[in-house]
Amino acid sequence: TVNLFVILCSLVLWVDNGVHSLQKPVRKFPEGFKFGAATAAYQVEGAWNEDGKGPSIWDDLTHTHPSPISDGSTGDVAADTYHLWKSDVELMKQLGLDFYRFSISWSRILPTGFADQINQKGIDYYDNLITELLKNKIEPMVTLYHWDLPSSLQKLGGLANPLIVEWFEQYARVVFDKFGDKVKYWITINEPKQICYEGYGSTAKAPQLNMTGIAEYICAKNVLLSHAKVYHLYDENYRYKQNGQIGISVSCTWYEPASDTIEDHQAAEDARQFDWGQYIHPIFSKTGDFPLSLKNNVRLRSKEQGFLRSRLPVLSSEEIVYIRGSSDFLGINSYTTKLTYRDASLEGMYPVPSYMDDMSAVMVKDASWPQAQSSWLQSVPWGFYKILTQVRYLYDNPAVWITENGWSTSGGLIDNDRVKYYRTYLSALLDAVEEGSNIKGYTAWSLFDNFEWMSGYADKFGIFEVDFKDPKRKRTPRKSAHVYKEIIRSRSLDM
Ligand code: NOJ
Repeated sequence: TVNLFVILCSLVLWVDNGVHSLQKPVRKFPEGFKFGAATAAYQVEGAWNEDGKGPSIWDDLTHTHPSPISDGSTGDVAADTYHLWKSDVELMKQLGLDFYRFSISWSRILPTGFADQINQKGIDYYDNLITELLKNKIEPMVTLYHWDLPSSLQKLGGLANPLIVEWFEQYARVVFDKFGDKVKYWITINEPKQICYEGYGSTAKAPQLNMTGIAEYICAKNVLLSHAKVYHLYDENYRYKQNGQIGISVSCTWYEPASDTIEDHQAAEDARQFDWGQYIHPIFSKTGDFPLSLKNNVRLRSKEQGFLRSRLPVLSSEEIVYIRGSSDFLGINSYTTKLTYRDASLEGMYPVPSYMDDMSAVMVKDASWPQAQSSWLQSVPWGFYKILTQVRYLYDNPAVWITENGWSTSGGLIDNDRVKYYRTYLSALLDAVEEGSNIKGYTAWSLFDNFEWMSGYADKFGIFEVDFKDPKRKRTPRKSAHVYKEIIRSRSLDM
C-alpha cells in the first residue's frame, strides 16, 4: 500500500505540473511594489480661466495666432478633470490604483505666481481631490511643477531668472502648508531637460525662447537650484511633522551605439550624459556637479580663439554640496531608445544639426522597432532595462520610482500595441528588479487621453479613451485599462 500511495502521489504531481506548464509563466512583483497612473494639470484639467486661475505659459502659447499646436487645439477644456474629479477617482478605484500622480497648476493657486495672493478656490479644488483619493485608499503623488509656469513669472524671465529659486520656494511653502499633512509623495519638477532644452533652447515647448546653447544651460542651473531649495525646505521644515518623501522626475531615453566602434560608443555615452546625466549626476552622484565630460562637450568657442569655456554655468562648491543628495528618490520617466553615432564632419560646427550642442552625436530611429503614433516613440523594452541597470551602477542603486511610461496611438479601444508595450516594459523592469534595482513603483502615462503639448489631441496616451467631441468628455476604458487592472490585482505579470 505504501508503494501504491507513492505512485499515486507522483502521478498527481506529474499531472499537476503538466497543467501548470500549459499555463503562461507568471512573474510576481516584489512585496510592497506600487502601481499608479499619471496626468499633469495643463494636459487634463481644463477650466483655464475659471474660479480665479491666472494664466500660464501654456495658456499663452496655445492662444497665439496662428496656433503653433499641430491640430490648433488648446487645453482650455482638455479632459475637464477640474469638474470631473469625483467620478474620475471612482474610475481609479475600479482600476485598483495604489497611487495617482497629478500636478498642481501653480497659477491656479497663486494667480500671479507670487504667494501674496492665494486663490482659495484653487486650494479647494486640490484639497477635494486629495481628500477623495485618500477616502478611496489611493495615495496622491503630487508634482509641483509640470511645465505650466504662471505667465507673470515668465515676463520676469521665468527659469532664466535666478530669482525663480525664491519664487518656487514660496509656492512650495504654500503647497506644503495646505496639503502636506495628506500628501506623502512629492515631485518637485517634471523633466528638467524638456523644460530647459525644449522650452529655452528651442521652440519645441513653451515659452519657445529658442536661445540655443545659452538659455537652456542657464535654465539647467536654475532648475537644479530650485529643486534643491524646495527639497531642503521640505527636509528641514516639514519632514519631521509630515513624514513624506520628495524627489525629482527626469526623462531618460536610452542611446544605443549604432555600431561597435569606439566612436559610436562614445557618442551614445555623450548623448546619455546630455539627456539625463546633466540632471541626475549633480543630484545623485557621489561627486555632484555637472558631469565632467558634459562640461567639456558643450563648449563655447570662437573661430579665432578656439575653446572659450563650457556653455554650462559654473556651480560653486557650496552649490554643488547644496544640490548633491537633494532627493529621497529618483523619478524616471522613460519611453524609448535611439541609435546613436558619431559624425565627425559635424565636429566644431555650431549650431550642430543634431539637437545636442557641439557634440557631433547623431540620434536616429531603427525602422525595425515598433512605432507609436508619436514620431519620437518606438517600443524598445531592452533599452528601458539598460537605463535601469545603468542608473543602478552609476548612482549607487538609488530608490527609483518609474513616474511615467506609456504608449501613444491614434485612437481605438482595442489597443493591443499598448498592451504589448506595457507588458514588455514591465517585464524588463522585473529583470532589473531581479538583478537588484531598487524600484519602488510604476506609473502608467497616462490615465486619460490628454493634451499632448505641441501635438494637441492627436497622440492618445490614455488607458482610458476620452471623447473630446463630447461636452461631457466621456471616458471609456481601453483594453489596456483592463489588462493593467488585472496586473495590479494579481501583483504579477503573465507572459
Ligand atoms: C513626458 C511628459 O512629462 C508628459 O507631460 C508627456 O505627455 C509625456 N511624456 C508623453 O510625451
